[in-house]
Amino acid sequence: MSKIYNIAIDGPAGAGKSTIAKAVSAKLGFVYVDTGAMYRAMALYFLRKGIKPDEEAVISEAVKEVGVTISYENGAQQVILNGENVSGLIRTEEVSQMASASSIYLPVREKLVELQKELARNENVIMDGRDIGTCVLPEADLKIYLTASTAVRAKRRYDELTEKGEPCSLEEIEKEIAERDYRDMHRENSPLKQAEDAVLVDTSGLTIDEVIGEILKLASEKGIGW
Ligand code: DC
Repeated sequence: MSKIYNIAIDGPAGAGKSTIAKAVSAKLGFVYVDTGAMYRAMALYFLRKGIKPDEEAVISEAVKEVGVTISYENGAQQVILNGENVSGLIRTEEVSQMASASSIYLPVREKLVELQKELARNENVIMDGRDIGTCVLPEADLKIYLTASTAVRAKRRYDELTEKGEPCSLEEIEKEIAERDYRDMHRENSPLKQAEDAVLVDTSGLTIDEVIGEILKLASEKGIGW
């Protein structure tokens, strides 16, 4: 069997991880795995049950009832929650905050990390999240820590929502991003941090194409893809 390659991309909310990882996976012919979508699907389950983010014992018990899997439709990842495709329901601010809040609990992480490791075992994957380089794929062939200033990330999100015609406030978005970053970086279990052997890519002043080019260059230097 030929060697399996794994690329890990971590970073804070809105750094452009999924856009970049999707594009790089298409160029390399790798499977793209968006792990945030799995935490979001679990969060949707907790919200539907009326569970509050601070109810650790209830969440730890509820995890046992949740089956999260992923599948691909025309190359796009779909996330399946107990048999239901919830991909279109997990991008709200309410789900974002619940995903961040419930991902601090060990039973939630253990269940999803196991699935993520399994996905990377037999296929070339590019996986994005918060703990991929540090915890899920510590042996990844290439690790990237993708970031951008809070102001730049908030402005990108603001432009995205405004383009869709959704009313929003730049100040509010910046506050929500800062809140989520703080929680993701300061939790006890697998906090977001740059792995020692990860390459830092600050996208603040770069175009999407420049970031994709930079990552493809780093991959090629590691002998990935060519
Ligand atoms: O990448 P995202 O914004 O879709 O992730 C939503 C939340 O899920 C994020 O704020 C924290 C959590 N998460 C995590 O704890 N570990 C991951 N590997 C991916 C996401």
